[in-house]
Amino acid sequence: MPLQYTYLNAYFMESCTVFENKTLTITGGTGSFGNAVLRRFLETEVKEIRIFSRDEKKQEDMRKLYNNPKLKFYIGDVRDVNSLVDVMRGVDYVFHAAALKQVPSCEFYPMQAVQTNVIGTENVLNCAIDANVKKVIVLSTDKAVYPINAMGVSKAMMEKVAVAKTRNLGKNDTMICCTRYGNVMASRGSVIPLFIDQVRAGKEITITDPAMTRFMMTLDQAVELVLFAFEHGSSGDIFVQKAPAVTIELLAKTLINLLGRPNHKIKIIGTRHGEKLYEALLTREEMVSAEEMGDYYRIPADTRDLNYSKFFDEGEAIITQAHEYHSHNTKQLAQNELKNVLLGLREIQDDLKEFNRGNANA
Ligand SMILES: NC(=O)c1ccc[n+]([C@@H]2O[C@H](COP(=O)([O-])OP(=O)(O)OC[C@H]3O[C@@H](n4cnc5c(N)ncnc54)[C@H](OP(=O)(O)O)[C@@H]3O)[C@@H](O)[C@H]2O)c1
Repeated sequence: MPLQYTYLNAYFMESCTVFENKTLTITGGTGSFGNAVLRRFLETEVKEIRIFSRDEKKQEDMRKLYNNPKLKFYIGDVRDVNSLVDVMRGVDYVFHAAALKQVPSCEFYPMQAVQTNVIGTENVLNCAIDANVKKVIVLSTDKAVYPINAMGVSKAMMEKVAVAKTRNLGKNDTMICCTRYGNVMASRGSVIPLFIDQVRAGKEITITDPAMTRFMMTLDQAVELVLFAFEHGSSGDIFVQKAPAVTIELLAKTLINLLGRPNHKIKIIGTRHGEKLYEALLTREEMVSAEEMGDYYRIPADTRDLNYSKFFDEGEAIITQAHEYHSHNTKQLAQNELKNVLLGLREIQDDLKEFNRGNANA
């Protein structure tokens, strides 16, 4: 059994007591991650879960869907400190998932990304610290590593803000740590639903660069990563889960095979603005200090003080030899492995059912 599942089972048994009688806040609780982690929390003896986000419609839909008195809904915006004060009062743990995460929109409106992802995160942390919250877990992305687009830059700054904040906190203050993960397979706006829609509409599948690689993670694994950080993190840590990767070409070919259309046309359209050939989860500097914990890496906080010689005059030979951890040098999934992973996803199972129903009705 892979180590992560061993950890998870052991952890999950424990988590039932860790969250017993506790009050949690999930910022961005109406999003994909928020829903996934919420389902996990509702299996524990948690006292109250507060969902914080802007859109009342998504909250109303969730209220009806879960119909659970432990759930409390708070309309607010991480940009607005006043709206955060109430949602932090009396809270034990915060999971900060509210974010702008679409690359193109952040590229066109970079200051909106700064306001939500950077300033909004600082607001969340300040309010959590003021309210004596015990732990805050901040969610980041692989796009924050060697960032080339405004979304990635804003998430990189968000990590810096979170880590810097911990430098001024004492042992008994709020514990703050980050998690970083890559693409969530089949999540909203990802390429898998796009490819399926294109096949369904009889259009060519469009891929930007066949050699482009991406980490492959499921939403459940993202939740596991966050719970692992919650359990094992110290202030200023960043946690990363080791993940396999695939080329976009293999992903497209595997999907059209699964849809029973092996000859469906694939068109190469070239790399889009702000798109990388491969994504990194750890820089080479981080690889030097990272601690391996089974299927996870823990990147400890940089505890250097503001002694400039350490930044400007001194170097570390070990960094020169280190390699970053990226989607080109991690384990690459073979086609049959990828097929099994895809078939195990609820979203793909639903899509395949709908696709086959559509074919039968045609
Ligand atoms: N999905 C992925 O592939 C992926 C990969 C790596 C990392 N992540 C990270 O994981 C986190 C969660 O992602 P997700 O997939 O759950 O995103 P999502 O489905 O788009 O959800 C985002 C959530 O944030 C809320 N939100 C946005 N702006 C807000 C604001 N200013 N104030 C308060 N709430 C706000 C949204 O609700 P309203 O719009 O109603 O406010 C929604 O509840 C993000 O930090 C993201 O960067 C995601």
